[in-house]
Amino acid sequence: MAVGNATTDAVRAGKTPTAIARVRPRLPFTPEIARELEPLYAKVKHVVTPMEWVHYAPLIKAINTLKKERNAVILAHNYMTPEIFHCVGDFRGDSLQLAKEAARTEARVIVQAGVHFMAETSKLLNPDKTVLIPDLRAGCSLAASITGADVRALREAYPGVPVVTYVNTSADVKAESDICCTSSNAVKVVESMGTKRVLLIPDEYLSKYVQTKTKVEIIAWKGHCEVHERFTAEELESYRRADPGTRIIAHPECPPDVIKMADFTGSTAAMIDWVKTKRPRKVILVTECSMSSNVAAEAPDVEFVRPCNLCPHMKRISLEAIHDSLLYLQHEVTIDPAVAEKARRAVERMVNLTL
Ligand code: 13P
Ligand code: SF4
Repeated sequence: MAVGNATTDAVRAGKTPTAIARVRPRLPFTPEIARELEPLYAKVKHVVTPMEWVHYAPLIKAINTLKKERNAVILAHNYMTPEIFHCVGDFRGDSLQLAKEAARTEARVIVQAGVHFMAETSKLLNPDKTVLIPDLRAGCSLAASITGADVRALREAYPGVPVVTYVNTSADVKAESDICCTSSNAVKVVESMGTKRVLLIPDEYLSKYVQTKTKVEIIAWKGHCEVHERFTAEELESYRRADPGTRIIAHPECPPDVIKMADFTGSTAAMIDWVKTKRPRKVILVTECSMSSNVAAEAPDVEFVRPCNLCPHMKRISLEAIHDSLLYLQHEVTIDPAVAEKARRAVERMVNLTL
């Protein structure tokens, strides 16, 4: 079925989006779409109801058609909802995996199904490509916790101490840094500096976690993830009391007393691998809630306990927003070239270290 009407045809004909009404084309659920997308529905049927599928399927069909027309790929973070993660994402993973895919892709257009700092990272690694974020409001409390000026002040306070910056930051902050890290390589990056002390910013809890894994002295900043800081040891204790066999897997952005209770701590990708290989009877993924749904779609034998903390920024990214992003090529991520050059060095240094 052709995905088109007056609006899409006008956009394809090169008319500027402002010259036409930005109306999403009507996308009906037809028997042809139902048949064609049956293999995709099979992937998510444990976590997406038939009623929801009626709404999602035409959008998925339209997005996958637009992707081909635009020579685009969608990089989907592990926190995307299952219909995005499993049905339109070309590459899926944690921040590091997505940055590596961004560095490798030959597509002309990258749509970041994630938050703004991830799209900026993709743009840094692909200055000549069009990088789109489907909703400009998709921020991050960690990225908002620190500015480039803060990092310059830290350098003055700690002369000679290298600055390792979590990728969950703006390009301005990365530009003031020696190297970036993600939750999956933070210990390795810190130790690669070869110094006795390292500034590891801005996530205080990630820094505290890394401190338990290395002899390098870590100097932290007071930034927190608004999703992970809400988990408490008390709530996890009550789940454990209810069923002592429940396994607890935590992200390192969680507070230290939460991490202390965990059977395993790692990046979102490492958490997924743990569940897929260990196949626990019952598990709590102490992280953003959609990730449990994504893993549950592939591991129906595992029971997931879901203290459902959602990231409001990640949840800005919907199928509708991705569709409009591809149709109207909105919202393009741009970075001041002088900032980009310095920030790129910090990201590339990390990517090269962990190839
Ligand atoms: P990961 O790199 O582990 O995917 O974490 C990114 C993030 O934003 C977690 O909140
Ligand atoms: Fe930022 Fe936390 Fe959302 Fe991750 S989950 S994007 S760290 S606010």
